[in-house]
Amino acid sequence: MRREPAARIIGKRSWGDFHLLRLESPDLAAGASPGRFLMIRTSDGFDPLLRRPLSLHDAGDVWIELFFRVAGRGTALLAKKKEGETLDCLGPLGRGFRMDGFGAGRTAWLIGGGRGVAPLYYLARTLISRGAGVRVFYGGKTSAEIPLREKFESAGIPLDCATDDGSFGFAGFVTALLERALEGGRPDGLFACGPDAMMKRTGRMALGLGLPAQLSLEAVMGCGFGACWGCVHRIKKDDGGQWRKICEDGPVFGADEILWEEA
Ligand SMILES: Cc1cc2nc3c(=O)[nH]c(=O)nc-3n(C[C@H](O)[C@H](O)[C@H](O)COP(=O)(O)OP(=O)(O)OC[C@H]3O[C@@H](n4cnc5c(N)ncnc54)[C@H](O)[C@@H]3O)c2cc1C
Ligand code: FES
Repeated sequence: MRREPAARIIGKRSWGDFHLLRLESPDLAAGASPGRFLMIRTSDGFDPLLRRPLSLHDAGDVWIELFFRVAGRGTALLAKKKEGETLDCLGPLGRGFRMDGFGAGRTAWLIGGGRGVAPLYYLARTLISRGAGVRVFYGGKTSAEIPLREKFESAGIPLDCATDDGSFGFAGFVTALLERALEGGRPDGLFACGPDAMMKRTGRMALGLGLPAQLSLEAVMGCGFGACWGCVHRIKKDDGGQWRKICEDGPVFGADEILWEEA
């Protein structure tokens, strides 16, 4: 595991509560792959004490990007950081999306809800560079909650948007938009990141159709590297289930592996 104590912020964009930071760090970039994440110190003091997990939103030779939504104290402090300041980061951590088999002639559909779209931009770019056909389904409650749509479009990544209030794109949940698209064609695999309800629905659709799907799970994380057991989720084993660490064994799991708690 690498620690980058002073990754310099070399770019920043904000859209309300959503923020994008570009950090210069050849070390972080060297271990980057879509679906992996960093544990970031958001304060120089003890509040918050614990680092916060954020996915790699994109990466180049000497830089990585983060895209996040303010959720509480840690991300609010991060949102105040300016260009030229530095961040103390651990990572990249975890097991990301598995892309083997996704090259020329294969198609992947990516489904992201709210801040969950963060890792999908890097994934889309990487799959396209391998020759795969990509289509992204991006949902939020309102048009203000899908701020990355122009970024996807400028990169030439095919995009379908959904908003719960109908203020942009399809009116309804992104899973309803996906369901409609699946009636007209089938990709070779689904990749999703977002709120649990969205992932549960996507996973169920995939299983029902016999489509492979990879879901990136979230959990409140204490350490990010397997030491605290604070991030466990029920994962299938034989006929039962076992607790697995999202930080170390995930965050990406197959839809067929995940056991969801019933509401
Ligand atoms: C592997 C991983 C990757 C992530 N990537 C991103 C990303 O790229 N962009 C992004 O915006 N967010 C991402 N998150 C979520 C992000 O880590 C949390 O929003 C953040 O830790 C909240 O910290 P805070 O101090 O701002 O809020 P807190 O004050 O700690 O919490 C605010 C609220 O958010 C809830 N919360 C805190 N942490 C999590 C969590 N990990 N999952 C779900 N709910 C949580 C709390 O229960 C509370 O209700 C990721 C989480 C994981 C586990
Ligand atoms: S966050 Fe500590 S074990 Fe996963």
